[in-house]
Amino acid sequence: MKINKLILLLVSALFFFSCSDDDEIINRSEVETPITVKASFNYTVSTTDPYIVVLQSTTESSVEYQSFWDFGLGGGVVSDDAGIDEVRYNEAGEYTVTYYTIYDGLTTIATQTIIVDENGVCPDGFCGSGETGSLKDAAATFSVGTITRASWVKAGGKHTEILKKEFNNITSEYEMKMNVMYPSQGNYDFSAADAMVNFAQENDMNVHGHALIWHNATPSWVDDFAGTNEEFEVMVKDYITTTLTRFKGKVRSWDVVNEAFEDRSGNPLRNSVFRQKMGDDYIKKCFQWARDADPDVLLFYNDYNMASSTTKRAAMFKLVDELGDLIDGVGAQMHISYEGPSKANIQAVADGTVSRGLKLHFAELDIRANPNEDITSLTNDRAQEQRAKYKEVVQIYNSIPLENKFALTVWGVRDNESWLIDFWGNADWPLLFDSNYNKKAAYFGFLEGLQ
Ligand code: G3I
Repeated sequence: MKINKLILLLVSALFFFSCSDDDEIINRSEVETPITVKASFNYTVSTTDPYIVVLQSTTESSVEYQSFWDFGLGGGVVSDDAGIDEVRYNEAGEYTVTYYTIYDGLTTIATQTIIVDENGVCPDGFCGSGETGSLKDAAATFSVGTITRASWVKAGGKHTEILKKEFNNITSEYEMKMNVMYPSQGNYDFSAADAMVNFAQENDMNVHGHALIWHNATPSWVDDFAGTNEEFEVMVKDYITTTLTRFKGKVRSWDVVNEAFEDRSGNPLRNSVFRQKMGDDYIKKCFQWARDADPDVLLFYNDYNMASSTTKRAAMFKLVDELGDLIDGVGAQMHISYEGPSKANIQAVADGTVSRGLKLHFAELDIRANPNEDITSLTNDRAQEQRAKYKEVVQIYNSIPLENKFALTVWGVRDNESWLIDFWGNADWPLLFDSNYNKKAAYFGFLEGLQ
C-alpha cells in the first residue's frame, strides 16, 4: 500500500477517535524527540462572498511535514497538496474544520468550528455582523425584480421578507395573464392581480404587467371563440382597454404580446387565435389599444431565445421597428444556462435594443446549473460557474446607457420554486437563493456584476 494511502488511513482513523475544539497533540511514536510540528490554522471570510472561507495554515515547523484538511462537509480528508484554500458553506449550520500535520509518525491536529447563519459565515464565530446590502440598493440605476403570486404576498413570511429587502419590482408569475384575469366572456377576475398590485403599492415597488396576449395563457373560451372575427377584435380591444384602465398609475409597464414568433426555421409568427382572427397586424393593433388606454404606461414586446437565436432576434427587432413609437421596450426573457448563450450574443440583444432607443428588460432571468444532468447536487465548482454567468449577465445589463435601463427580473426567488424543475423534469438550482432562502454564490455573482 502506497505511503500516501497509509497516511490518509492513519489520519482518518485518528479523526474518528479524537476531535475537539482545542489543538490536540497525539504522539504516534514513543521517541522523546521534541515536538517540531504543531498544527494550527486560521480562516478569514471572503470579501466577495460571505459563505466562503479562506483557510490558512499557521503551523510553524523547522521540518518538512505532510498536512491534510477535513472541511467538515463530509467529503473526507483532503491533502494540503491539493491546494484548496477556499471552501463555500452553502447552508446555515456549524461545521468542524480539522487540520492535520504528520511528521515522522507524529500527528498533530487543530480544529475550529465554523458557524454559518443566513448572512453567511460568522467571522471568528460571532454571528450577526455579516449583514450585507441588497440587490436593489446595489443596482441603484435600474429596478431589480422577481416574480410572485397572490397567495405568496398574502402569506407573508420569508418570501415577502426577501421581496421587500432585495427587490423593488414584481411580476406576477401567472395571475396577470388573460386566462386568469378574463376567465369567461364579460367576466373579469382581477382579485389575484389586485392583491399583488396592492402589495407593491404598500411596499413602494413597481409592477411589471405580464402578459396581456400570450398563446400559452389564453382562456379556452377565447381559443374557441364562437363569434365573428370582428366580434373577436372588439372583445380583445375591450379586454386590453379594461385591464390597462384598471391598473393605470399602478402598473408601470406591460408585456402587451409575449412569444409571438415560432422557433422553427424562418421564425414565422405563431398561428395563434389572435393572428387567425385579427390578421398578421394583430400585434400592432394590441399595442395601439394599450397606448390609447394608458399613454403613460411602458409597453413591451417579450420573448425568449433572443440571445441564443440570431434569426429570432432579427425577427423580433424587425417587429419592433414596425411598431415605431407604439413600443417602449424589449423584454428578453433570459432563460439561459451556465454554459450559454455567449456573452457576445447576450450583448447583441442589448446593443440592438439600445441602438433603437428602447428600454431593455432582462425579464425572466434564470441560469440552469444542470442542463446536461451531470450533477445530482449543486457542487461548489458548478455554483461558481453559475455565479460567473450571473455576473456576466448583470454586467452587460449594468453597462447599457441609463436611458435604456428599466429592470432586471429573476424568474423566482428560491431554487425549488423554479418552473424549470417541472419543465425539464430534472434537478436544478437556477436562482439566487437556495430552498432555505440562503443566498447562493449566484447572489454574489449578481452583486459583483453591479460593481
Ligand atoms: O397555483 C396553482 C394551484 O393552486 C393549482 O392547484 C394548480 C392547478 O391548477 O395551478 C397552480 O397554478 C399554476 C402556476 O403555474 C403555479 O404552479 C398554473 O396553473 C400554471 O399555468 C402556471 O404556469 C406558469 C406558466 O408561465 C403559464 O402561465 C408558470 O408558473 C410560469 O413560470 C410560466 O412562466 C412563463 C412566462 O410567463 C413566459 N415565459 C416562459 C415562462 C416559463 O414557461
